[in-house]
Amino acid sequence: MAPTESRNSLSITDNRTGKTYEVPIENGAILTSELRKIKVSEDDFGLLGYDPGFMNTASCKSSITYIDGDKGILRYRGYPIEQLAEKSTFLETAYLLIKGMLPDRERLAVWTYNIRHNTLTHSNMRVFMDGFRYDAHPMGILVGTIGALSTFYPDAKDVSHEDSRKLQVRRLIGKIPTLAALSFRHSMGFPYVLPDDELSYTGNFLSMMFKMTEPRYKPNPVFERALDVLFILHADHEQNCSTSAVRAVGSSGVDPYSAIAAGCAALYGPLHGGANEAVIHMLKKIGSVDRIPEFIKSVKAGEGRLMGFGHRVYKNYDPRAKIIKEIAFQVFEETGRSPLLDIALELERIALEDDYFVKRKLYPNVDFYSGLIYTAMGFPLEMFPVLFAIGRAPGWLAQWIEQVRDQEQKIARPRQIYLGEDSLDYVPIERRPKIRPDEQKFGICRL
Ligand code: CMC
Repeated sequence: MAPTESRNSLSITDNRTGKTYEVPIENGAILTSELRKIKVSEDDFGLLGYDPGFMNTASCKSSITYIDGDKGILRYRGYPIEQLAEKSTFLETAYLLIKGMLPDRERLAVWTYNIRHNTLTHSNMRVFMDGFRYDAHPMGILVGTIGALSTFYPDAKDVSHEDSRKLQVRRLIGKIPTLAALSFRHSMGFPYVLPDDELSYTGNFLSMMFKMTEPRYKPNPVFERALDVLFILHADHEQNCSTSAVRAVGSSGVDPYSAIAAGCAALYGPLHGGANEAVIHMLKKIGSVDRIPEFIKSVKAGEGRLMGFGHRVYKNYDPRAKIIKEIAFQVFEETGRSPLLDIALELERIALEDDYFVKRKLYPNVDFYSGLIYTAMGFPLEMFPVLFAIGRAPGWLAQWIEQVRDQEQKIARPRQIYLGEDSLDYVPIERRPKIRPDEQKFGICRL
């Protein structure tokens, strides 16, 4: 080993020049900006890392959520998800994620009070809501209305002040169930229901969703606890697509409502927040237990995927899926068993014994049973990503705060590998050749 080399470093030899570089290793990572020193000439830009989808690039240092995908471990601030799901509440877990520790009795009471007293939205929000078409998707409405909150609270621009951040956190966690319920009631043409401060966070959400003409809505305690646990399970999942969107947008210094609206938009996509809806469609399409072998055969032949199975990070049973399966049984005890549950259980049994799924380490993920529970509780399919967003809001906020306070963070600005034309001279329109149909169909004009 050369005298300057330390064991916590990487020696890279550039075969183009024969030069060797030493790159420090810290926390199991190298700074990719160090690669810029690797050049073939003085005017060379330097070496870049190419990593579409951030498959192996850490974008931040974080102390919020830990995942070990091979072992099936998920912890918030060090606490295992299984213990939080069994013993905590969603609001307590939100406190843990955002403040970094479990609250004492007094702090929890103050936190709960502050969130419960931020559930009302400005009455202009209803006018805004009424502007959406009668059949607008509730998730599209949520994206728009969360973004609109920034116009109601211009003080939120003050992202560098802790007091302002605290206020926006309370407002957002308080109002997101109200906006979610308003979006559902609007899409159904039902009158809006005011928040009820006497109910729990989740009980109040159920009231705003489902209250009709009864003077006081009494949430079913099994549904209330089940939904609270589902919110806990969705509360954070480190640097996933929507959280990365929140961080990337937040890195510009914009207010948190705009950053969280970006997270919601990312969650709207079928590859992220929409898989549980796809599971319900799949189960309905299979239709009965005896048709499962035929369906599995088609998946193995590459004719589609077993939705709710597989995960980019978990190569073991998703710890959230285990808890959700137990909740599904509790909810179905209240509502009566759904034939779709029987199909799901048999599908899981067969897949977990099948070589195709075993070899590829494909296990049920968080979405496999969650849609069944939501359907049994009376939520329409379009509300599934909205429910995910309510649960994920504290995680997004915790990650946003961590980023705003992190001195090492900079505005998100990835590099690219440019493969386009070098340098062309502008051609006046009368001198340009006619574009051939094949150029339009397959060539550079294709969208
Ligand atoms: N059904 C059948 N085959 C699958 C599935 C599946 N659900 N998932 C992966 N595979 C196969 C895939 O065909 C490939 O096989 P081969 O090596 O022969 O080409 C291999 O497994 C690896 O798949 P991949 O697509 O490279 O894996 P990925 O890490 O890029 O994808 C995934 C992860 C979640 C997108 C994928 O497993 C999938 O599409 N699952 C179904 C959709 C789903 O349930 N999504 C919810 C994810 S959890 C939500 C959250 O945490 O936010």
